[in-house]
Amino acid sequence: MTDARSLWIATAPRIPVDADLPADTEVAIAGGGLAGIAAGLALAERGHRVVVLEAERLGARTTGGSTGKLTLLQGTTFSRILRHAGDEVLRAYRTGNAAGRDWMRAHLEGMPGALARRDAVTYATTEDGERALREEADALAAAGVEVEQLGPGGVGLPFEVAAGLRLPDQDQLHPLLALAVLTAKLRRLRGVVVEGCRVRAAEPDGAGLRVSTDRGDIRADRLVLATGSPILDRGRMSSRLSVSREFAAAYRLPDAVRPPKAMYLSVDPVPRSLRSARGLDGEPVLVVTGDPFETGREDDTAARLAALDAWVRAVYPRAWRITWWAAQDYRTTSSLPHAAEVPGSRGRILAATGFAKWGMTNAAAAALALAGQVAGDEPQWSARLREHRGGLRDAAQAVSLNAAVAGHLVGGWAAPHTRAEGPAATVQRRAGAMVAESIVRGKRCAVSAVCTHLGGIVRWNSAEQTWDCPLHGSRFAPDGRVIEGPAVDDLAPRDPSAPDERG
Ligand SMILES: Cc1cc2nc3c(=O)[nH]c(=O)nc-3n(C[C@H](O)[C@H](O)[C@H](O)COP(=O)(O)OP(=O)(O)OC[C@H]3O[C@@H](n4cnc5c(N)ncnc54)[C@H](O)[C@@H]3O)c2cc1C
Ligand code: FES
Repeated sequence: MTDARSLWIATAPRIPVDADLPADTEVAIAGGGLAGIAAGLALAERGHRVVVLEAERLGARTTGGSTGKLTLLQGTTFSRILRHAGDEVLRAYRTGNAAGRDWMRAHLEGMPGALARRDAVTYATTEDGERALREEADALAAAGVEVEQLGPGGVGLPFEVAAGLRLPDQDQLHPLLALAVLTAKLRRLRGVVVEGCRVRAAEPDGAGLRVSTDRGDIRADRLVLATGSPILDRGRMSSRLSVSREFAAAYRLPDAVRPPKAMYLSVDPVPRSLRSARGLDGEPVLVVTGDPFETGREDDTAARLAALDAWVRAVYPRAWRITWWAAQDYRTTSSLPHAAEVPGSRGRILAATGFAKWGMTNAAAAALALAGQVAGDEPQWSARLREHRGGLRDAAQAVSLNAAVAGHLVGGWAAPHTRAEGPAATVQRRAGAMVAESIVRGKRCAVSAVCTHLGGIVRWNSAEQTWDCPLHGSRFAPDGRVIEGPAVDDLAPRDPSAPDERG
């Protein structure tokens, strides 16, 4: 179960990048997922000097784990935004997303394997789901997106559904091949892209910044944080972001069964998404994602993956799983993406986050928004989204989000003396310190259980065999290496033989 590998990463060649970190640049971008590479390209297209600094390898995290649907049919997103922010903001969201989609299309059309035209379908199997579909259809109409209403027979899935909405002529991406095309274009415009280069800190330096990375320092006029949840944030932004993680898997089907042609997403209480793709040997496969959970707050993540698997096998008997993976994305309390200055940074640090699992359009929209802000000709839709001040509903959401975070902070520290996190892992108080200990493939590791972001106590993720923080979603390998989330520092090693508090 530990050999998780995204289908996209497994089926794309390594993206060529640059070997050396330059000493200075106009804009440094932390993060080489879609948001970072798109922001780099949008800025380079306007003549800016750009360096992208990626901690691991391009697309390693959420972009490499995405379902890759490039569409304006986004589950219940439009009705949620209408409820939170009203129809003017909703129209701005729609315009930005359409601009993002068109920008992606313009760059990717005709590039082998990167993009394929497909209808998008949202469907419901329950009464609650049907109600959500009706609300979404109304919100889409208010935003000027025309969808087709489908009855039970028109959805085209091999199981019973109650109703659906179809938006024709959308696209499905191979997210890594798409990222490779955008990266090559960025480098042709003299953008520099460096991997294995984690940003650890940024300090004011004259009118700009000195950005410290694992591969040395770089001076930049501006820094864009395109790291999923913004790193270097001490709570101001992360307190307004919730994080949702989800499993995905690719299945081979029996010869007589074809994967669905359209891209599907359910709006039922357990959302699931289906699409077709090419497998490890180029064969047609079904990709399914679903069963989301909050990072670091799930007792048994392996059970979530098993539930997804069981659902697929019930719908497609004799489906054979060839690979699985998981990824997470962030939602703001207003449900609107954030593509703007980091509060308090005097315009020197910008961030792109809060894509709420619709980053294929939203990351590109954020890139256009940030490039416009840097150049002083921000699109109107971007200014409208940026200026939106949340209402009571958003404030209530922020309060409940932070109450949950506080609950997990206190709960983690007050945990029983020894908390068994599963057969392979424990969190213990030892010699005054909280210690997370695991045994993975026979290797025993003991590390501090205290998240290096803001002090949450990590929990074991049984499916992925990682330590995950319940506060803002930072994740760490068994040996303490930071994997993702707002943390930039690893969990410190601890002596596994230290006596526990009672010793
Ligand atoms: C299961 C799932 C399915 C999805 N399906 C869809 C879909 O069908 N359609 C859609 O539109 N959206 C979808 N999304 C959302 C979309 O994939 C994301 O919104 C998008 O990929 C986010 O891109 P990003 O660049 O912000 O983040 P990422 O791809 O996570 O990129 C951030 C990068 O920053 C790097 N990084 C982190 N810290 C540092 C540091 N300190 N220094 C340097 N680099 C750092 C990371 O290694 C990573 O590569 C899905 C999301 C999930 C979780
Ligand atoms: S305390 Fe913020 S992610 Fe752990």
